This record gives sequence, C-alpha cells and structure tokens, in this order.
Amino acid sequence: MRIMLNGLAMALACLVCLPVAAQPVAMLASPDAQLAVAVSTDPDGRVLYSVTRKGQPLINPSRLGFLLQDSFAMVRGFRCSEDSRRAGLEDWEQPWGERRFVKAAYTELLIHCQQTEDFQRHMQVRFRLFNDGIGFRYELPDQPNLKTMKIAEELTEFDIAQAGTAWWIAGGEWNREEQIYQKTAIDAVATAYTPITMRLEDGTHLTFHEAAIVDYAAYWFKRVEGRKFRTTLAPSAQEARVIRATPFVTPWRTIRVADSAAGLVENDLELNLNEPNKIGDVSWFRPHKYIGIWWGMITGRWTWSSGPDHGATTQRARHYIDFAARNGFQSVLIEGWNKGWDGNWLGRGNYSFTEAYPDFDLKAVTDYARRKGVRIIGHHETGGNLAVYESQLDAAMQLYARSGINAVKTGYVADAGGLIVPGPLPGEMRMEWHDGQRSTVHHQKVVETAARYKIAINAHEPVKDSGLRRTYPNWIGREGARGMEYNAWGQYANSPDHEPTLIYTRMLAGPMDFTPGVLSLTGANGVKIASTLAKQLGLYVTIYSPIQMAADFPEELAKYPRALRFIAQVPTDWAESHLLDGVVGDYAVLARKDRNSADWYMGGVNDADPRTLSTKLDFLDAGRRYIATIYRDGPDADYRTDQRHSIVYETRRVKKGDVLQIYMAPAGGFAVRFAAAR
Ligand code: NOJ
Ligand code: CA
Repeated sequence: MRIMLNGLAMALACLVCLPVAAQPVAMLASPDAQLAVAVSTDPDGRVLYSVTRKGQPLINPSRLGFLLQDSFAMVRGFRCSEDSRRAGLEDWEQPWGERRFVKAAYTELLIHCQQTEDFQRHMQVRFRLFNDGIGFRYELPDQPNLKTMKIAEELTEFDIAQAGTAWWIAGGEWNREEQIYQKTAIDAVATAYTPITMRLEDGTHLTFHEAAIVDYAAYWFKRVEGRKFRTTLAPSAQEARVIRATPFVTPWRTIRVADSAAGLVENDLELNLNEPNKIGDVSWFRPHKYIGIWWGMITGRWTWSSGPDHGATTQRARHYIDFAARNGFQSVLIEGWNKGWDGNWLGRGNYSFTEAYPDFDLKAVTDYARRKGVRIIGHHETGGNLAVYESQLDAAMQLYARSGINAVKTGYVADAGGLIVPGPLPGEMRMEWHDGQRSTVHHQKVVETAARYKIAINAHEPVKDSGLRRTYPNWIGREGARGMEYNAWGQYANSPDHEPTLIYTRMLAGPMDFTPGVLSLTGANGVKIASTLAKQLGLYVTIYSPIQMAADFPEELAKYPRALRFIAQVPTDWAESHLLDGVVGDYAVLARKDRNSADWYMGGVNDADPRTLSTKLDFLDAGRRYIATIYRDGPDADYRTDQRHSIVYETRRVKKGDVLQIYMAPAGGFAVRFAAAR
C-alpha cells in the first residue's frame, strides 16, 4: 500500500512539476480535463497550489496563507488533506445582461488544512475548475482558537509560468481606477488593480480578478519578483485590513484562461462564482438608454453648484425630458439638483440628499417626466463622505422612490484612501479606501437599501465589480475606469487604444457606465476626442451596460439624426454576445443579439492603426434574411483631422454566412443593425 501511495505521489509531483520535497495533497481536473490544479505542502508545511493547462505549467507552485494582526501567521506548519470533491452543472437565467442564459460546468475540491502548532488553527481552500477558468477561496470554519480573524495581509501567490505581455493600471494610485492602461512585459508590472489581462508567449490569454467581494477588502495584484505576484489587500484605518468573525469565506481568486481574446470575453467565470439572486424580482428595472444634465457640468459650461450657471434647473430638466421623449430615450439623469455642491465637495461631501436648490422643483420635474413617459435617474454624489451619506441613506432612497425614480447614480469622488467614515467614538472620523473592507460593506448596504425601495444603483468611483450583480441584480453598473468624461478635459485624453483595451480588461469585471455618444467629438474648450463618429456608435455594441447614455448636449445629438436614430434603436439587453474578432489593445468586434427581437447588432472599435476587416456573418440565424444598416468610417475619416465625422451609411440584404468587409479608420469603428425580415 505504502509503495502504491509513494508511486502515486511521485506521479502527481511529476505531472504538476512540484518542487521535489513537496508533499502532494490532492489534484483536480476541469470537466474537459485541460486545466488541472494540484495542492501540496512544502517541508515547512506551507500550502501550495499549482495549475497546468494541456499538461503544461501555467501557474508554478504558489503559496497560500495569511498574516494576522494579533497572532502568529497562518502560513507555515500546515498539514492538509482532501475533505471532499464534487462536480456541478448550472444553467441559469440572467434578469438582464450580455446573455440571457448562462451555463456552467465545473469540478470542485475542498482541502482542509490544520496547523500542527500555533493553536492548531483550521483553514480550508475550495477550488472550482471550469473549462475556461479557475476560482478558489479560503473558508475559515468556526473554531476555538480563531474566533475573530484580523487579517494583516492575505498572501495568495500567482507565479506565472511563462513570459508574456500584460495590460494593467497601477493599484493604489490616487486616481483610483481612472487611469490610462499600460502595456508591459509581465515581469515589468508593478502593483496592479484587477482585472489584469495577460497574453503569454504561447498565445494563452489570462485574466486575474476576483468574485464575490463581500465584507472583505478587494486585492491589488502586486509583483514580488520575476513573474510572481501576490495579493495585497486594500488598506484600512481599522486595526487590520480585514476583520471577520469565523465562520466566513473570502472572495474567490479567479483566473480566466483561454486560447484567444474571445475566450476571455465570452466567459462568465465570476458571475458563476457568485450566489444566486437574493433580492427577488427585478422586472421593475428595465435596461434602457438615457440622456442627462451632465456633459454641461463636465465641460464647465454649467455648474453643479448654485449660481447663474446652475445646470439642474426645472426649466432645463423639462427641456431634456422633451428631448428624451421625442428621441426614444427612456430616462434623464439630473445631477446637482440637491444642496451641498457649493465650495469644495471633492473628498469632502457635506450634502443634503433631500433638499433641492431653489431653482429646482423635484416634484414638478418628476410629474412632468411621468406625463411624458420618461423617468428621472437620481444622483447621489457623496464626495467620498460615507458618514454623511449613510446617515441620510433611508431618507434619500425614500424620497426618490416616492418620486417614481427607480435608478440612482452614486458617486465617491475622493482620492484613493480618502473616504470618510465614522470612527468608533462620537464625531470621530476615519479615512478609508474605495476598495477596502469598510467600503465593500457600505456598497452592499446601499444596494440592499435601494433594493427595498425598488431602486437600481450605478456607482461611480466604486469598489471594483466582482460579479455581485448576480446576487444583487439592482446593481446595474459602475464606472471604475476612465470613462468618456476624461475626453472633456484634454485633447485625446483617452487615447485611441483606450476602448479596445477596456473591452479585454475592465469590461471583464462587469457593466460599465462609460457614457458614449459625444457625437460632436468635442470636449471643453473645443478639445477633440480620439474618435470618429462611427466609433461613437460602435461603443454602444462593444462596451456593455444595461443603461447607456448619449452623453452629448441634446443640440449636438440633434445635428446627427441618423446616428441618433441608431442610438435610439440599439438595445441594452442581449440574448447572446460574441467577440468575433479582436486583439487586446488594438481592436474589438462584437456581435450581440437583441433579447427582445430577432435582430442582431455588430460593432467595432479601433485603435490608431487603420484596418479593414472581413467578418463572416456566421452568428446570424440560419434561414433568416436581414436588412443590414451599416454605419462605418468614411474612407477619409481620421480622428486627427476635420474628417473625423466622415461616415458612410449603407443598407444591404444579408444572410448567415455572408462576408462583410468593413474599414476602420484611425480611432474609428462601426456599427451595424441587422433587422430580421418580418
Ligand atoms: C465623477 C463622475 O464620474 C461623474 O460622472 C459625475 O458627474 C461627477 N463625479 C459628479 O458626481
Ligand atoms: Ca469618475
């Protein structure tokens, strides 16, 4: 028997390339047997995991464990064994999303570890393997010697076996996730936010992220040496980065794995690792498009604060409502109607969420909107002051619910580490991080409170999306990257490759309120946007959100009636979504099927290099005929010249299998509507 076990140990060690002295604990293969995880312990009793794909190393043996604030570390001296394993099959329906039905097949392994000294503490690790990704999390059971866990640091490592390229933004920087992406060698990454996407030398695509951040800090992906990375939990002013009573589970640490960029995009790993819907029916929220009293403030023409240029007046709101009703927009966002914007609100935030400035009448506006069949999207900018917001949260939601408002944009404009929360003593204040444990608790409280009032939440300057929309489907979107607003503040502020990078990085986390549709292609003081007119339309198909804005001034939108008509038509809720063609950071072409009709849409966004693509229309339904309305860059279109509005409109009859050749200009793009013949 002993000989047999030794033989098995040697075979496993060889299979997953364990360091010689490692003790194998267990192995798990994905349903298609392509991905495999092996767990072992080293001679010091450190817990290691490694990953192979098609027999080749993907993640070299990497450590697991925790540093504690008030006790010896949970790093060494572990003895581990397999606790249980199982396989799972799920087929579930999203209330809204990139695809209606989500299928998941996985295998699962639970490892139980106990420290031989240091209070015999228990730590479990649950691995879930899908064909296109891995999730694992720690589970800390109830136990006599670990009643409260004060985590100084989580020491999960990812030692990437191959060289390659990474697309990433710097973790912990003052401007949070609103940064230009960097493209570097993997071993030149510093500390990154996730999702971070990599293309390895053999073409394998990886994205590291996390799922279900609940009452825990989000992590930054920090390079230790070579290609070895380690989790760094967002800091906190509390005694430890995370404080939890046992039993509890951590968020899942996730790795999407694919042969191509498409495999990263058509991948529901994090959603599948989240808990099912906890708030019940959300049919009261309908995906839609909106305009808003917004670009005027972003460009500095109007103000959020009171005064002669105040943006949110009753009169202007009526004008926007009229425009929305006439042009097929279901709602109007109104920012700056409530008191508190005067003076420095950034990182300060002393708002009233219920009192209006004198030139704005919330009841009159919402009554008018109702008569016109339009809704208002409410706004709660907090300036990062959670203390003030939490103290008014119920009253704020109640007012909106009473006014017929069922979607609210929240905002947390403060430097990273600059959130204000109440301290333990009366009147005491503490500074926290947007992605720290306190902030994740705050966001959950806002989303749960909003759900009680049948209100949906779209958070700007948020904690990163970890797929919690499955559990809380009233969490309809977030910002969490540089959106359109940056284009108002500098010429080509978002570079031409920004969107073709977002699609393979930030967008893998979940919907983004990017706010496309600046058809004038112009920001403040006449600065130009790195986009053609056709690219603005392509954004509605390529960047997913269940609410999509047309961000420009109504007068500007009205100057481009055909483009405006496309925006009115394009759906925001899909039955299927596919990445047809693309290269990370260069371009992306997606096709999506409307959830409420037989129509398909296709969109593309390009970086600065012009290219012509031949796309086979294999996604269309067999046996159907379609009228394709194409919005593409003119042959002379170029974001750097006066021809950036050059666009060609054409109509063609097409069917499945036809090939469409489309030219994308520098910073160009395209959109196509395939209307199924009735
Ligand atoms: C920053 C947000 O991203 C923007 O959309 C909003 O208008 C301002 N904060 C004010 O809340
Ligand atoms: Ca922002």
